[in-house]
Amino acid sequence: MTFDNMPAGANHDYKLNFGDKILARIRKAIPSPELRHQALFPLAYMAPILGHKAKLDQKLSYQINFKDGSAPLYLSNPFILAAGANKTGRGIVPMANLGFGGVTVGTATRYFRKGNAHRPRMGMVEADRCIHNSMGLNNPGVEVISQRVKQSLGAAHSKNLSVGFSMAETPGLVDEAERLKELVQSFEMAYQVADYVEINVSCPNTGVARGDLDTQFTEKIFAEVQKIRAQHSRSKAVFAKLSPDLNEAHLRCLLDVVQNYGLSGVVLSNTYPTLQAQKLLQTPVASLPVLAADGAKGGLSGRALYDSTYKSVSFVKKHYPDLAIVASGGVDHGAKAWDLLNAGADAVQCYSVLAYRWFAITQMRKELALKMQENHCSSLKELISNRA
Ligand SMILES: Cc1cc2nc3c(=O)[nH]c(=O)nc-3n(C[C@H](O)[C@H](O)[C@H](O)COP(=O)(O)O)c2cc1C
Repeated sequence: MTFDNMPAGANHDYKLNFGDKILARIRKAIPSPELRHQALFPLAYMAPILGHKAKLDQKLSYQINFKDGSAPLYLSNPFILAAGANKTGRGIVPMANLGFGGVTVGTATRYFRKGNAHRPRMGMVEADRCIHNSMGLNNPGVEVISQRVKQSLGAAHSKNLSVGFSMAETPGLVDEAERLKELVQSFEMAYQVADYVEINVSCPNTGVARGDLDTQFTEKIFAEVQKIRAQHSRSKAVFAKLSPDLNEAHLRCLLDVVQNYGLSGVVLSNTYPTLQAQKLLQTPVASLPVLAADGAKGGLSGRALYDSTYKSVSFVKKHYPDLAIVASGGVDHGAKAWDLLNAGADAVQCYSVLAYRWFAITQMRKELALKMQENHCSSLKELISNRA
């Protein structure tokens, strides 16, 4: 790979504060990882009662202007809740209480899916501040989620929260025409209701081959997507979400397709296929409980992915400057958000950090603001527009 090196010491560490230690206790007290994950929602509802206020900070607000001519995307701050944390479209608006500038709901498939049958499907990799999951795209189906997004969009906007919609093809369909038909139907529903759409072609845990491994089929998906976008007067941003384990030739091939078919940008990246993730971890992969349950599926997220995230963001910015970039993977410190925005990211997405840091986004917003102050940057609007 000819990825650029990241700045030395850039995997900025944080000291666990009092709140983070309480969170660690809560984690240990709730035995089921999936139940622990659900705790995010009551926490978001209760945040104001707990005295937690995520105020609008004009310094952090800006809009992403897309080179493909899509309508600009307003963000009250660059932190977006990554796909998978809100799989159902319920409880979107309270996420503003946690300090997010956006929420991506889903990933949705055309119809309801239970996800993988094995348990556990999610586990903490505490020593590495990571999460290992093989949920298998459990979701209520695109129709249900799009209704929920439609109902909450106005309230979300009034709380300065943008809403994205992640969708993917139904795993296991064999007939190509059928695969494309369902994808088109899902995309149409998602595109109508959300502020932006992510096409997830990189889920490593459904037991069938990921979409981004088949460049020709991916090309067909994006061609169909473009036909639909062309029918709408106001074009919304559409991103392809890729996997972090692609080699340079493969990544270039996919990025060419993304660019040639006129998508707005990429989300870099999804979880790292766990079987290949040993090089990123101190913890032996073979000891992960989820892996023992499911055999081979699953993806790793969290701190260990950051190096790869930074390098892919720099790579895409350098070689595909017209694509918008959303960085995802190991963003657990505001200084990392600062580094990624400077390396070319237009926003960052977070998920795993919420399990390790108490009110993580508020802490990271403060760290980002400090970095801006140290670097005499008066607003992200200025940073993003000068950079472009
Ligand atoms: C439990 C879990 C479920 C996830 N589900 C999805 C999903 O449905 N769709 C998707 O695009 N990404 C999914 N992801 C990946 C996240 O969106 C994100 O890209 C990844 O976790 C890296 O970010 P992080 O290091 O901040 O967690 C999931 C991640 C986790 C931990």
